[in-house]
Amino acid sequence: MSGSVRPMRPADLPFAEDLVRQAGWNQTPADWQNFLAAAEVEVFVAEGIRGCAGTISIVHFGRQLSWIGMLLVDPSFRKQGIGTLLLDHALSVCKEHGSACVGLDATPAGRPLYEKKGFSLSATLERWSGRAPFFADRLPRIAEHDWKDIARFDAERFGADRLFWLRCLERMGPTALLRRNGLVTGFGMARPGIRAWYLGPIVAVSELAASKVAESLLADLHPHKIIWDCQSASSQLPRGLGLKAERPLYRMLLLGTDAVNTSRDIFAISDPAMG
Ligand SMILES: CC(C)(COP(=O)(O)OP(=O)(O)OC[C@H]1O[C@@H](n2cnc3c(N)ncnc32)[C@H](O)[C@@H]1OP(=O)(O)O)[C@@H](O)C(=O)NCCC(=O)NCCS
Repeated sequence: MSGSVRPMRPADLPFAEDLVRQAGWNQTPADWQNFLAAAEVEVFVAEGIRGCAGTISIVHFGRQLSWIGMLLVDPSFRKQGIGTLLLDHALSVCKEHGSACVGLDATPAGRPLYEKKGFSLSATLERWSGRAPFFADRLPRIAEHDWKDIARFDAERFGADRLFWLRCLERMGPTALLRRNGLVTGFGMARPGIRAWYLGPIVAVSELAASKVAESLLADLHPHKIIWDCQSASSQLPRGLGLKAERPLYRMLLLGTDAVNTSRDIFAISDPAMG
């Protein structure tokens, strides 16, 4: 396939939003704008002879970890090598950046493409969705003075510093913070999506702490529809809330170790595109 890859421009946003809608994904125009605005995120567009054909994003969490997402090809351009072109471009960007590890969350459709490039399965995730049940009790929201503690708590579990992204999410919806004896034991966030509210990340020291954080977020989201992506090992939480399993997602890594980003303390990921 002849095609070229270039950085995404604001004028490409309607095209990118159409791709998300066609694929039934959940990211909003505001998410795309956040990707475009953040210094840590690079977003690219593939162009074929007939115009824009697909997108891909890369977020760099320092040199420790780069995360690939938003690999979307317009249905009329599929099976012509555009997905491979975009992925090859993203991998060369990661190499140039000096990333120690490259990760992504693959759909069943995307998984074969990544396997061909040497990615291997690190964990299976599950997407759960349904109506947010009713809860009355709310934990305190995250306040400015909490961020130093949260940054340390999260980096120890996520495996890299993603403070810029958490601060971005904080502005978009409800947050919840759990402390015990003054120490952070859990936090969570949610933000709007085009199909449903997206619950995540939820990071906590135990299942009990995670469920307290989730219930506080749900108190704000009831009765809206929600989506929750979690590791299979944590699926009893969304199941217990009456949500339904939609489909698997495959957490895949290249060049790195399995220790990155599969901590059991991550009860909800922040977005398949962002880890
Ligand atoms: C997954 C997705 C990105 C793949 O994009 P694509 O442009 O079709 O990918 P490619 O064309 O590079 O490769 C797809 C297949 O077409 C084949 N192909 C590529 N060029 C071809 C050509 N000229 N003629 C025939 N087949 C070709 C590839 O070998 C590959 O075959 P395989 O499926 O048997 O492995 C696309 O289907 C998509 O956007 N899906 C919806 C969103 C999604 O799930 N994204 C993945 C997120 S992880």
